Amino acid sequence: MSDRSREILAFFEKKASKADGQEGYISGEQIAKEMGLSRTAVWNHIDTLRKLGYEFEAIPHLGYQLVKSPDRFFPEDIERSLKTKIIGKKIYYYDVTESTNDIAEKLARNGEKEGAIVLAEFQTAGRGRLERKWHSVKSENILLSIILKPELDPSCVSMMTVMISVATANALRSLGYEAKIKWPNDIYIKGKKVAGILTEMKSELDRIQYLVVGIGINVNVSSVNLPEEIKHKTTSLRDEKNEKINRTDVLKTLLVEIEKAYNLVKEGQFETVLAEWSKLSIVFGQWVEVNIGKRTIEGVVIGTDRKGSLLLKMENGFIETVISGDVQLKK
Ligand code: BTN
Repeated sequence: MSDRSREILAFFEKKASKADGQEGYISGEQIAKEMGLSRTAVWNHIDTLRKLGYEFEAIPHLGYQLVKSPDRFFPEDIERSLKTKIIGKKIYYYDVTESTNDIAEKLARNGEKEGAIVLAEFQTAGRGRLERKWHSVKSENILLSIILKPELDPSCVSMMTVMISVATANALRSLGYEAKIKWPNDIYIKGKKVAGILTEMKSELDRIQYLVVGIGINVNVSSVNLPEEIKHKTTSLRDEKNEKINRTDVLKTLLVEIEKAYNLVKEGQFETVLAEWSKLSIVFGQWVEVNIGKRTIEGVVIGTDRKGSLLLKMENGFIETVISGDVQLKK
């Protein structure tokens, strides 16, 4: 979309948000005058917007009114307006794909630079940790994968998930949600899961070649439209605020927070990220049960180590380091 078309759109959106009856209409002449364009140019921009899925109602003598905006991301607009240096500056956008992590993995394998993201409106085979399915409804959520190439030892991969969890929670908090982290990869609001992170890695013995970090955030889906087995423990940003949420704003805020947190990791400031994690964690200081494959252990969470593994103090005083597992709070 050209800058002019975007300006005209902003004009209509402003008008529509204040609209009351006929006040939502703007004449082509009025726009032409205010923007210093010919009426034909204005008409051409409206035509471009219509082709992008915006719907206008035209009434003789009154003008045009924006009646519907398409519910999709506009990757070029995001790339251009995003205030980051690398994260999200290249977007691969899909209406439908199997899993954004698979696409990002192929791109990374073929040499795509770090920071590139894959964004989709819908996934036919979205997945979560432990071979679980990741459910979504078309154009209602954020389904995103990021390619990262940190110069780190493969044993630090959990640190990357911790870093992304901190960034995701911080992004949601800056938008006014009480987001918290449940180690290692879940973001909760008031006891219900709102987002999940799936980190996949390709590495050599002593070096990460690339990471694909998949993030799913429930934005506008209503948890009542999710499968029976998860609806009672899931929430969305819309459910929390009782209003439709602008997905692009959430996405942009998220990408900025990820770049901030990733820079800290790249500078070796693990302690800063871990300190933020402790503040945001719902398991820190709590008695928990951790399922590690077929083994279950219990203890108090006393923190994470520099690699992002969970540190659990057991009843006998022994401190267990958990690299990966499923954590449940025990009352
Ligand atoms: C989890 O909670 O277990 C992690 C969920 C991760 C879901 C995201 S959605 C975008 C990306 N593509 C996938 O197939 N999964 C991740």
